[in-house]
Amino acid sequence: MGYAIETRNLTKTYKSKKGGKVNVVDDLNLIVEEGEIFGFLGPNGAGKTTTIKMLLGIIYPTDGEAYLLGKEVGDMKVHQEISYLPEKPYYYEHMTGLEILMFYGSLFGIKDKAKCEELLRKVNLQGAGTKTISQYSKGMQQRIGLAQSLLNDPKLLFLDEPTGGLDPIAHIEIRDLILRFRDEGKTCFISSHELSDVERICDRVAIIHHGKIRKQGRLDDLLRGGRLEITANGVSDAWAHSLQLPEALISARDGRVIIDMPDNHDSNAVLDAIRNQKGSIVSLIPRRIRLEDLFIETVSDRGSRQEISDVAPNA
Ligand SMILES: Nc1ncnc2c1ncn2[C@@H]1O[C@H](COP(=O)(O)OP(=O)(O)OP(=O)(O)O)[C@@H](O)[C@H]1O
Ligand SMILES: [Mg+2]
Repeated sequence: MGYAIETRNLTKTYKSKKGGKVNVVDDLNLIVEEGEIFGFLGPNGAGKTTTIKMLLGIIYPTDGEAYLLGKEVGDMKVHQEISYLPEKPYYYEHMTGLEILMFYGSLFGIKDKAKCEELLRKVNLQGAGTKTISQYSKGMQQRIGLAQSLLNDPKLLFLDEPTGGLDPIAHIEIRDLILRFRDEGKTCFISSHELSDVERICDRVAIIHHGKIRKQGRLDDLLRGGRLEITANGVSDAWAHSLQLPEALISARDGRVIIDMPDNHDSNAVLDAIRNQKGSIVSLIPRRIRLEDLFIETVSDRGSRQEISDVAPNA
């Protein structure tokens, strides 16, 4: 399978206030695989929108190359296969949801009312197609935006802050829709500050800071805490304390034992040992670090080393 997005040393230079030059996107090597949900993260001013604009062909890179779905950015054929939901889409307030879809559909040469109605159903706005946008809540506006971005049946969607400013229920609805897009084989490239959403739905992420990628990789790998916690009942405290597990922390009391150990130990052997003692396993939990902590560590000066865990996952 090819890459949905590939950039090679992509760079955008602007003049700085002091008359010098500043690379707001600096030697960016980004890989997004087809069919994945990719989170593009970074603090304000990191270079996310500038990167997206270069990928969409809105602005030209100063240096480097970028490919979408195997074709060079700028190839007009690729525009038929991608779509973009901006952070704050603007719609004519007096138009209804259905009219909006018919209007934008006509720009793609689509005059299919049934298709627009199907898209309304897809984003759970079937009962609201005749309401005007001025009567739509923020969450409904975001969903009509998603319906609009599906008009050309894109293979690759760019979603800028798709859950920004929404209530918790609307977050869930938008997340579920994005997961459905992935199930249909679409690639979603999401720029977001909503780290809890990113943590829930993204397969891989890149964190950029000052135009450079600081971390890139599978979320599962980046958030791996390196430790495992096993809880069991029905074993003797003395037996639990006699376990020989290097670097493990064992607490045992009244027949309940909690073993906190490095995740490279043979956990099956520990589970077998507990069962041999007629103990029962309550839980086995791999420890994960929170994306928020990883993000802060990465964009603070302490974590400003360049670390890329898998630039070319299929290579
Ligand atoms: N046309 C321009 N001329 C000069 N500098 C620019 C221009 N456009 C963007 N910049 C600068 O480039 C840097 C990156 O901006 P960009 O909009 O890409 O950040 P961002 O990561 O999208 O931030 P946010 O999270 O706030 O949306 C900023 O320092 C911004 O001031
Ligand atoms: Mg931006």
